[in-house]
Amino acid sequence: MAFLRLKWISADLLASVCHMKRAVCPGSFDPVTLGHLDIIERASAQFDEVVIAVLVNRTKSSMFTVNERMEMITKTTAHLPNIRVDSWSGLLVEYCKSKDIQSIVKGLRAVTDFDYELQMAQVNLQASGVETMFMATAPAHSFLSSSLVKELAHYGGDVSSMVPKIVNEALKARVAESGN
Ligand code: PNS
Repeated sequence: MAFLRLKWISADLLASVCHMKRAVCPGSFDPVTLGHLDIIERASAQFDEVVIAVLVNRTKSSMFTVNERMEMITKTTAHLPNIRVDSWSGLLVEYCKSKDIQSIVKGLRAVTDFDYELQMAQVNLQASGVETMFMATAPAHSFLSSSLVKELAHYGGDVSSMVPKIVNEALKARVAESGN
């Protein structure tokens, strides 16, 4: 009987009962790059579970749908057993609260990221007590961003060293579809 009841305990509840260390890596991931994957892999080594949350950034227009972005992340993180992919439209801290997530992990590429990221981390801390942990981007990826990748791909540039193979293919297909 107890087993039958346990079957219905959600992953979120189970995680909080077991005091698992959980973090969220939030972002637009439009599309996921090798820089994102480096941060995701390193975060997965530090926490029991890491949720990759595809969020809507109201200041950016997107090339891929949320479902397409989630699918690309799911495929490229399949080798990491403690990664979960999810989406959310709303405040990040509300997501953390609803999923019992205590930490936000963000990659910092350069000092240009710092002002905005610090502001968001402070607002999120004040609003909810959720901590933000910054991870230094590996130097090889310090120039890399999804926006740059999309710009290059749009003009037929080679982005194969910046994104996983399936993302490169998806970019080529999307650029060909858009016809400009
Ligand atoms: O990959 P991005 O676009 O730099 O990610 C930014 C993102 C989506 C993580 C950020 O815009 C965000 O957290 N959006 C959710 C809404 C929210 O919580 N906004 C308040 C931040 S102070």
